[in-house]
Amino acid sequence: MATARQRLTPTSETALLDARLLLSFVIDQPTAWLYAHSDSPLTSEQTETFSHLIDQRSIGMPIAYLTGTRGFYHWDFVVTPDVLIPRPETEHLIEAAQTWLKNRQGEKLNIVDVGTGSGIIAVSLALLFPQVSVTAIDVSPAALEIAKLNAGRLGAENIEFRHGNLLNSLPSDFQVDLIAANLPYIDHDEMLTLEVAKWEPHLALDGGIGGLDLIRDLLHQAPVHLKPGGLILLEIGADQGEATQQLALEVFPNAVVKIQQDLAGLDRIVSVQTLE
Ligand SMILES: C[S@@+](CC[C@H](N)C(=O)[O-])C[C@H]1O[C@@H](n2cnc3c(N)ncnc32)[C@H](O)[C@@H]1O
Repeated sequence: MATARQRLTPTSETALLDARLLLSFVIDQPTAWLYAHSDSPLTSEQTETFSHLIDQRSIGMPIAYLTGTRGFYHWDFVVTPDVLIPRPETEHLIEAAQTWLKNRQGEKLNIVDVGTGSGIIAVSLALLFPQVSVTAIDVSPAALEIAKLNAGRLGAENIEFRHGNLLNSLPSDFQVDLIAANLPYIDHDEMLTLEVAKWEPHLALDGGIGGLDLIRDLLHQAPVHLKPGGLILLEIGADQGEATQQLALEVFPNAVVKIQQDLAGLDRIVSVQTLE
């Protein structure tokens, strides 16, 4: 463990934690187990696998891609380099959707998750509200396969998957109660300078110049499909609250548009509540 920690220290601020997580993954035991069994020897196969993972981590490969899963809300999701690693901030979007949906129990509702990636939003909402119909859309076929895998593993049966650009794949008469989206929102030039862009798919990060290209396009497509009284929930970058609010009001001038902060007090979710 000490050697692994040393190997990770130059590149990771959480070297010891990383080493523990990877070791617990290799021996298939919770990290707490390691404290009581620090003397347990590894098999030669486990030693080799652990060493390989430490090598990968030492060049920056995210832990979630090494272990193949990441916890989000109440569940563990499979992740591969084809999908964005779920972020805890996105749980705010789930909470906001839950609050809204709880007031509509018993109604037959349609939810669309645009840019589903690993499927965390679609699958979480499908599991929390088994009576709703969820449509999960992504432009990346590889991401959609991971989302389908997660839905299957976690037993979410009320999801339909669609490959396509934003809402373009929906039939023109398809009506939606709730549109939820964590679309790429990082400014293109800034993205190229970020460590995450070395590992996570650019398709999941690149929001174009200014970062709001996809959010703007989605807002413009939304009126065709959103029912009167419907809600849009958008995850945004910390500096995009006012700009997104403005874009939403251009498309939905009578809507109630709110900016919600995350636990760090940063703008994170824009909600667009349209009129009945
Ligand atoms: C920031 S990731 C979010 C993934 C997941 N929803 C989450 O919260 O972890 C954005 C996702 O949007 C998808 N995407 C990018 N452009 C898209 C488009 N034009 N239409 C549909 N999906 C798109 C990407 O492939 C990626 O999976």
